[in-house]
Amino acid sequence: MKKVVALMGSPRKNGNTATIIGEILKGAQDAGAETNLFNLIDMNIKPCVACYYCRQHEGCAVKDDMQAVYEAIKNADAVIMGSPVYMFQVTGQMKMLMDRLYPLLSGENGSYALRYGKKQTVTVYSQGADDSNYFQEYFIYNQKVLDMLGLEAVDHVLCCGANDRRFAAGNSALMQRAYAIGKKLAE
Ligand SMILES: Cc1cc2nc3c(=O)[nH]c(=O)nc-3n(C[C@H](O)[C@H](O)[C@H](O)COP(=O)(O)O)c2cc1C
Repeated sequence: MKKVVALMGSPRKNGNTATIIGEILKGAQDAGAETNLFNLIDMNIKPCVACYYCRQHEGCAVKDDMQAVYEAIKNADAVIMGSPVYMFQVTGQMKMLMDRLYPLLSGENGSYALRYGKKQTVTVYSQGADDSNYFQEYFIYNQKVLDMLGLEAVDHVLCCGANDRRFAAGNSALMQRAYAIGKKLAE
């Protein structure tokens, strides 16, 4: 059975990012996958404190809700990373989580080997701007960070013009696509 983990970085648990991720997870569940959703807004995730514990040891010295995220990613086949665009970037809570993903890389011999291997990854972004090209350079740049962490993109969803939290739910083509992505992750 495939395991799919979703990291949801919007403070709106009923917003567009959450709706799209929910539909991806539904597709994955219906195709037999085990899914695990983390709403970052509800979690206690502290900043990286640059102690470099993770360069020498597995895991993180900061003991908070990230411990569950590490365990989930370690065992996952696929990871969904979703965030609205805030100030041209991911939300602060998603950036904080990304800093804390340093333990996915081992520091042995000065290398950046992947501790848990590569994971199929789907990024989900929602933005207020109508123009889908507006933040493309940033999305490509952010994917480079994810690639380095072994979170290699197999698909991505971008929802534009989405200030109304119900916008994505009303776009049936988008919902069907999200569902199909989830089904594929479960294969
Ligand atoms: C603090 C803040 C900053 C935002 N910055 C941007 C931005 O830089 N570009 C943009 O297109 N939309 C921006 N937005 C709009 C959100 O990206 C948009 O409403 C998004 O669809 C919300 O996703 P959600 O429904 O999943 O919460 C911003 C919204 C907030 C609250």
